Amino acid sequence: MLHGAESVLLWVGALTTASLALWILYRLLSGFRIWVMGNGDLLSPKLGKWAVVTGATDGIGKSYAEELARRGFSMMLISRTQEKLDDVAQSLERRYKVETKTVAVDFGQVDIYPKIETALSGLEIGVLVNNVGISYPYPEFFLHIPDLDNFINTMINVNITSVCQMTRLVLPRMEARAKGVILNISSASGMYPVPLLTVYSSTKAFVDFFSRGLQAEYKSKGIIIQSVLPFFVATKMTKIRKPTLDKPTPDRYVAAELTTVGLQDQTNGYFPHAVMGWLTTVLVPINLVIYFGMRMNKAQRGGYLRRRKLR
Ligand SMILES: NC(=O)c1ccc[n+]([C@@H]2O[C@H](COP(=O)([O-])OP(=O)(O)OC[C@H]3O[C@@H](n4cnc5c(N)ncnc54)[C@H](OP(=O)(O)O)[C@@H]3O)[C@@H](O)[C@H]2O)c1
Repeated sequence: MLHGAESVLLWVGALTTASLALWILYRLLSGFRIWVMGNGDLLSPKLGKWAVVTGATDGIGKSYAEELARRGFSMMLISRTQEKLDDVAQSLERRYKVETKTVAVDFGQVDIYPKIETALSGLEIGVLVNNVGISYPYPEFFLHIPDLDNFINTMINVNITSVCQMTRLVLPRMEARAKGVILNISSASGMYPVPLLTVYSSTKAFVDFFSRGLQAEYKSKGIIIQSVLPFFVATKMTKIRKPTLDKPTPDRYVAAELTTVGLQDQTNGYFPHAVMGWLTTVLVPINLVIYFGMRMNKAQRGGYLRRRKLR
């Protein structure tokens, strides 16, 4: 009798160990495929002559524009400030000998899409990077956000409406050609609620859900739609001046991110960020992540208000 129970336990133990070993092996192999081998060659003008990047004059968007131009795409740059657009366009033309076009629009407004549609008409678009996004000037309680009514509309228009509307304009032609890549820049703040950045965090959760839902709809039609969720990157938005391993330059971040396209529908885009993503979603309970987010942002808010003497 005891013998029988022992052998059952032995089998359960052996099977559990074998499945765990297989799971670890699978994770290691897919990690190696994504972070060591990568899929660097997928993004080429074979997808279509033009790449479109929103928020292309600074930070992460500018790095996408640089990297895609380096790969030979003609570049459509869409951002707010015409002079900055001209500077980036001239620099790309000079360095990579590619054609460029620019459109200056404020994504905080909703009446800009006919202008963008006209500028995009007739272009064979292989890649769309929905990058434009804004965050808080400093972490703040919802009801204390300065000019709250305007803040809500602007943030939703820039972070959410732009992604849906740009996709509406570009996806039909990708679908017709059965190829194309859309990269939607969400944020690690969209992986769980981030107190005192609540509106930002929620808009980024929208971008993540939108991307993953749309990828399921259009995958079989040959379109890749990827949700990109970076942690901190050293840009004007984060005011981080000294890049570190976990807060890389936008160039470094984008170079890593582009190797994951076609391998991950949802990605943190950069190995140290992937580790942070795993820690904060798998290892640490979500209530603890929210609690520490609140503490960190409360301290930042205090520092900001002390410096500004607004308290
Ligand atoms: N940096 C990070 O740590 C981080 C982390 C996670 C996610 N993200 C996301 O990554 C994206 C890029 O962030 P970033 O840090 O690179 O930002 P950034 O350095 O502030 O650059 C933002 C770009 O968007 C343009 N832009 C801003 N508001 C605009 C508007 N209303 N209309 C048109 N263009 C506008 C800016 O043009 P002007 O200079 O002319 O305003 C600039 O080209 C955002 O979606 C952000 O949420 C960033």
